[in-house]
Amino acid sequence: MPRAKKPVAKPLLRSGRQTKRWQALDAAHHIHPFTQSNLLAAEGARVITRAKGIYLWDSNGVRIVDGMSGLWCVQIGYGNRELAQAGYDALKQLPYYNHFFKTTNPWTIELAARLTALLPDGHTRLLFADSGSEANDTALKLIRYYWNLKGRPEKKIHLSRALSYHGVTMATASLSGLTPMHPQWDLPFPGFEKVPAPYWYGAKGAGYGDIDPEEFGALVTREMEKKIVDIGPDRIASFSAEPVQGAGGLIVPPANYWPEVMRICRRYDILFHADEVITGFGRTGEWFGSFTYNLQPDIITMAKGLSSGYQPISAISLGSRMGDAIAAAGEELVHGYTYSGHPVACAVALKNVEILKRDGIVTRVKRKIGPYFQRRVREVFADHPLVGEVRGAGMLAAMELVENKAERQSFPKNRNAGTICRDHCFENGLVMRAIRDTMVLAPALIITEVEIEHMLRKAKLCIDLTAKDLGVL
Ligand SMILES: Cc1ncc(COP(=O)(O)O)c(C=O)c1O
Repeated sequence: MPRAKKPVAKPLLRSGRQTKRWQALDAAHHIHPFTQSNLLAAEGARVITRAKGIYLWDSNGVRIVDGMSGLWCVQIGYGNRELAQAGYDALKQLPYYNHFFKTTNPWTIELAARLTALLPDGHTRLLFADSGSEANDTALKLIRYYWNLKGRPEKKIHLSRALSYHGVTMATASLSGLTPMHPQWDLPFPGFEKVPAPYWYGAKGAGYGDIDPEEFGALVTREMEKKIVDIGPDRIASFSAEPVQGAGGLIVPPANYWPEVMRICRRYDILFHADEVITGFGRTGEWFGSFTYNLQPDIITMAKGLSSGYQPISAISLGSRMGDAIAAAGEELVHGYTYSGHPVACAVALKNVEILKRDGIVTRVKRKIGPYFQRRVREVFADHPLVGEVRGAGMLAAMELVENKAERQSFPKNRNAGTICRDHCFENGLVMRAIRDTMVLAPALIITEVEIEHMLRKAKLCIDLTAKDLGVL
């Protein structure tokens, strides 16, 4: 009997040639987000061709551990067949229709109902959009509309925090407190004001002295209150905040911060907008970070984990105060996107939320894998000479790389600690994000203990190599 031919691995040259061709076409025709084009063109982008679970593969067949679940979004892991099937079924049955012409569709209805059951009390009404930026942009419009309906048109200023990230539209970039996002576009617009971030670890470097976390929590909330009083509470419409700041450096506030912020918002009649684009859908061990931190938002925005990133979809949920007022307005809501509540995106999101619930994925983050991850990341890195602080919650963790651990002293910018570490990750098959000198991990929620160990071994290797490069080890 003739022996079955062994599958032959694709010759490296062929896949190498294809990669080079793609890289050249990409460099010639595709502008990447948050990227310096000439540098990337010289280096060549990595071409990701497939993914499964927590792993990605590039066009040369190299397997990579995705420690960031894409952009903090693939809660359920890659390659989930049920989600693919849900999308395929909806594509066959109703590939597109809108909600403008007094119409709706079953997937949008079911998803809206399902989400309101998971959201905080009073959040019974939702709008859909297609990205986190659109959701936040919509939230700002609805906040302005609410105050106009209430006969308080002078309440127009949107407060947010230093180092916050809320998106890239003109308004949401203005809302964002990451200042490098502004000069290219002549932003922020007037009417966007910032208060300090509850970034305790950076407090010493920022000139606050050797202050403990609770003292710092009290101090930044006092500064927030002072800003409100200085501007005049009658002019302030809203305060927007991520329950845990993500792109600003994974900032987990001191325990006394959120209760005080809630008190301030109530006292000065400021609408509280929770940007749950990262913290939604189990990331912190509850369906929403608002539950983890006992927040009472008037409006919540969500995206990413809503569909595990399988489809572009976001939502804006209104608490009863805003929802009732807007529902009772008695006029057309002059807003909406062609793809709001897209049937295919809703079908995929609905299946995603169903699976997160059915398979106990959110509960597992709270009870088992989240505590395991938080414990292990501390065990591996807390005593590392290059790691000043390990922080995190649920399936979010960060290691801040510092020059002097005892003094909480950062590296000067030109030492590029974060970039060096990210490059080691790249070479060693790990995606770990560098935010300044803070290395972030936000893996898929379905990650196993064994996979966490594998990911942390790689992370340790890369941080060790960085320490050597910087002369710390
Ligand atoms: C907290 C937060 N809000 C908003 C956004 C913007 O979302 P998108 O990139 O989908 O527009 C992001 C993206 O990372 C985010 O982290």
